[in-house]
Amino acid sequence: MSHNTFGHLFRVTTWGESHGPALGAVVDGCPPGLRFRQEDLQSFLDKRKPGQSRFVTQRREEDLVKVLSGVMPQEDGSFVTTGTPISLMIENTDQRSKDYGEIAQQYRPGHADYTYDVKYGIRDYRGGGRSSARETAARVAAGGIARLVIPGVTIRGALVQIGKHRINRDNWDWAQVGENPFFAPDPAIVPVWEDYLDGIRKAGSSVGAVVELVAEGVPAGFGAPIYGKLDQDIASGLMSINAVKGVEIGNGFGAAEITGEENADEMRMGNDGKPLFLSNHAGGILGGISTGEPVVARFAIKPTSSILTERKSIDAAGNNVDVRTKGRHDPCVGIRAVPVGEAMLACIIADHYLRDRGQTGRLK
Ligand SMILES: Cc1cc2nc3c(=O)[nH]c(=O)nc-3n(C[C@H](O)[C@H](O)[C@H](O)COP(=O)(O)O)c2cc1C
Repeated sequence: MSHNTFGHLFRVTTWGESHGPALGAVVDGCPPGLRFRQEDLQSFLDKRKPGQSRFVTQRREEDLVKVLSGVMPQEDGSFVTTGTPISLMIENTDQRSKDYGEIAQQYRPGHADYTYDVKYGIRDYRGGGRSSARETAARVAAGGIARLVIPGVTIRGALVQIGKHRINRDNWDWAQVGENPFFAPDPAIVPVWEDYLDGIRKAGSSVGAVVELVAEGVPAGFGAPIYGKLDQDIASGLMSINAVKGVEIGNGFGAAEITGEENADEMRMGNDGKPLFLSNHAGGILGGISTGEPVVARFAIKPTSSILTERKSIDAAGNNVDVRTKGRHDPCVGIRAVPVGEAMLACIIADHYLRDRGQTGRLK
């Protein structure tokens, strides 16, 4: 009933608040015998951590992940999973509750303040508590474990749109994603986004974004119709990320604008004797089951709710108030959502790999 867990066989529970001493994840169901190093998980957390450029929140968190259980430490410093619950902990070191003191009683527009109060009758106003996207650090750590379960699958994400400024898809180069502060696959968009976001940041405003995820090497056959479809679970996982307001698989909403002839992914037999898809409008999933083509998902992130301009709201006592959110915030949360999306996709695919193996008994 408490809904802090997702996944069926690869199960992730996250815990902790933005301004508590620590937060983390418990990953249950990870197969035994998988070797990794702390640095393997840390590399994903480092991509998400705050304070890395002027375009993200200036909260300073090292986001060092500690592996507390579920592994046998090896002499060379690596860990080997034992098949028992893996507990991962990230300490909060730069929590400044005073930034949030004034809004303890006020409902910030666009935030979860009002709904948490209505539902629970109590809310952790220190930085949003559990509704804060600091929770997503725990998912990123869990995603690092998920990737161990599906070593043949490459999961990558990129930012493809900020506000109205879209990348030129003809320039797509995965090697560029790590070379700029936006995870942009198109180097030509970087100066455009820099200028645009500098203006947004200086005005104390915010803007939304679109993230695209691609999973390559997913074998055909993952996904459990009718109510455990791969696309259904991906949509659920991505929609659970803070500030996500839309999810598309393949050509998504674009499918509504084209004809059946244009949308159909035609097939031929390849020279290697394997089926060949001539296009991938379906985003690698048909009937809820993977086709073997890259799995492609996109999600839209709303503009950061914390802005310096006063907005109308109410407080817990029922007074009308004007709220101006001070403190440290991301002008565009879509940037740091890229590694979070990758992690969620990794967890969902790892879960489906184990579920497929459990049901069909076949290794793909
Ligand atoms: C990586 C990441 C960082 C975020 N940082 C902020 C932030 O600094 N300020 C803010 O207002 N919202 C931020 N958010 C979004 C809020 O957590 C979210 O909008 C809020 O909890 C309300 O939930 P909802 O937008 O999903 O309805 C962030 C989201 C993500 C994915």
